[in-house]
Amino acid sequence: MAARILDGRAMAARWREWVKAQVEAFRARTGQVPGLATVLIGDHPASLTYVQAKQSACAAVGIRTFRYDLPADVERETVLELLGTLARNPEVHGILIQLPLPSHLDEEEILSAIPLEKDVDGFHPLNIGRLGLKGRDPYFIPCTPLGILAMLQEARIPIAGRRAVILGRSRIVGLPMALLLLRLDATVTICHSRTPDLGALTRQADLLIAAAGRPGLIRGEMVRPGAVVIDVGINRVEDPQVPRGYRLVGDVVFEEVSAVAAALTPVPGGVGPMTVAMLLVNTLKAAQRQVEGSASPWLEPIEG
Ligand code: GUN
Repeated sequence: MAARILDGRAMAARWREWVKAQVEAFRARTGQVPGLATVLIGDHPASLTYVQAKQSACAAVGIRTFRYDLPADVERETVLELLGTLARNPEVHGILIQLPLPSHLDEEEILSAIPLEKDVDGFHPLNIGRLGLKGRDPYFIPCTPLGILAMLQEARIPIAGRRAVILGRSRIVGLPMALLLLRLDATVTICHSRTPDLGALTRQADLLIAAAGRPGLIRGEMVRPGAVVIDVGINRVEDPQVPRGYRLVGDVVFEEVSAVAAALTPVPGGVGPMTVAMLLVNTLKAAQRQVEGSASPWLEPIEG
């Protein structure tokens, strides 16, 4: 039977509508608008595209944006000074530093310079640490894992007691996804580039999350019939047939896996739009907390 395709574009559109209404209600209550500052260092083409997409998504729902594009050879002190200024600016409720950073900058040091309450990406070491501790809430859950959770909840896919296998251990997706699913009582396995016999593990998964950044990695025979497969890969592969010269593909061989899985997210149009939508949610919550002292709970519109 063909897999149910989880339409991230449609889900993200509903989230944007919800955030837009919440932003308007916040403005009516407080006279302020939520503000997000983005910091892009260097001219990595994919990063530039992501930052532009995040900026325009904010504008479409009424979130004010502040944009800082810095040269690839910017000095560490300049970045830290900018982060200090943004930390003190009451109109900036969220600060996002697009990753990866150029190699001369220490990611740990830079991300730690974002105040926890403005860390809308959830990449601050303390936010990640809190995510891993039951009973301790992080200020923010990183946007891609949060977007995946929202998709699973909306599709009524259960998590507790299920076996989840995650490919990739990055700060952006794999690691926080594992911690989040563990919090929600899944049995979690994390695989990475040094894991032998990947298929033996992926075939055990009720929920398979592919975030390795390797096109074509997950073939049909690596998926248990009836599994739910979330494809987080956004890989550019050359394609002279299209004007821009490349196509976006995930980590999953869509034609094969869609014949085996119960549900599958497409690329493009799956997890990507939900990541951006969750950044809007996190920025709204940051503003609510900083201005009003409290924010609505995670994933409110689809809870219950
Ligand atoms: N680089 C790739 N994905 C992301 C993301 O979601 N946030 C940031 N800050 N950088 C990224």
